Amino acid sequence: KTINVILTGGVGSRLWPLSRKSRPKQYLEIFEEKSLFQMTVERNNILTDEVMVVGNVDNCHLSKEVLNKLDLSYIDIIESTPRNTAAAIAFACFAANPDDVLIVTPSDHVIEGDSSYKTAIESAVSKAQEGAIVTFGIVPAKPETGYGYIEYKNDDVISFREKPNESTAKEFISKGNFLWNSGMFCFKAGVMLGELKDFTPEVYEKSKIAWENNEQGKLDLALSMDIPSISIDYAVMERSKKIKVIPTKFNWSDLGSFDSVYDYLVSKGHSTDENGNMVIGTDNFTAFLGLQNTIFVTTPSANLILHKEHAQKVKDVYVKLESED
Ligand code: GDD
Ligand code: MG
Repeated sequence: KTINVILTGGVGSRLWPLSRKSRPKQYLEIFEEKSLFQMTVERNNILTDEVMVVGNVDNCHLSKEVLNKLDLSYIDIIESTPRNTAAAIAFACFAANPDDVLIVTPSDHVIEGDSSYKTAIESAVSKAQEGAIVTFGIVPAKPETGYGYIEYKNDDVISFREKPNESTAKEFISKGNFLWNSGMFCFKAGVMLGELKDFTPEVYEKSKIAWENNEQGKLDLALSMDIPSISIDYAVMERSKKIKVIPTKFNWSDLGSFDSVYDYLVSKGHSTDENGNMVIGTDNFTAFLGLQNTIFVTTPSANLILHKEHAQKVKDVYVKLESED
């Protein structure tokens, strides 16, 4: 059986103030009145047997609304607190059978190209059935520091490097045999649990205890707080020898931070001034003086002005303002 595991417990802190604690970015209806979450469900539902959503107690009702609207039943895993993607993926694996093939997808990506997406998923599933942990590689467009990099030869992964600094990212790009990690993964539940157990035993053990004490899919807060917060990229991908990559042909954008949103909007014809300054959230005429590649984001309750190069730092503002709510 194949299961689409949708990770939707992230808070989307790098898109503050568009993304708020009460409505993270994946639930904003920004495209044709569909949220990125809904688009993720629809894209994968036709390719997999079941849907599983691993999300947060604060916004699981937002996932439910979408799945009810689409008339889909699903396996609901509700985290009481985000413990990062290693734990979220561990819960999904515990909820599945060891031989089920999980296709883990984030809920905040834009993907275009249905048939090449389908082909990529189908070849990933067949490699996963043979015991691989499959990643999906994207041809890098720039030395982005917010992504993982996959050093590869054909479908073999030589190394996986999560979020390098800028000079390392530049070096990777110039070498030419690196792809971006798309953040989607495909593997058998039992294979992933084996690797987690080997490489991050504490995450494995504590996630297992938390999972075994879940109440109808809802995880206990205190047991969850005990799980180390680490992403699957650091916990497993950088260390496993079972990683394969599928170099993809579909169009992919991670609308994870304002620099990628900026590039995406430019590609869709959203205007900037002659110095590359952009306004998001109002049609009011806005003048930028002495500024280049600046983004002005406005919402009814908060504004953000940032240089495009500082997009990764927005998280610090979010953490300061919203984490204590
Ligand atoms: N359930 C749950 N619980 N989901 C989570 C949690 C959590 O604690 N933390 C994050 N997520 C979800 C997010 O909502 C998102 O859909 C996905 O997991 C990935 O998390 P991000 O926080 O967006 O990761 P990232 O963008 O920094 O990095 C990952 O994605 C990049 C591509 O977009 C990595 O896999 C990188 O290697 C990759 O390049
Ligand atoms: Mg992301």
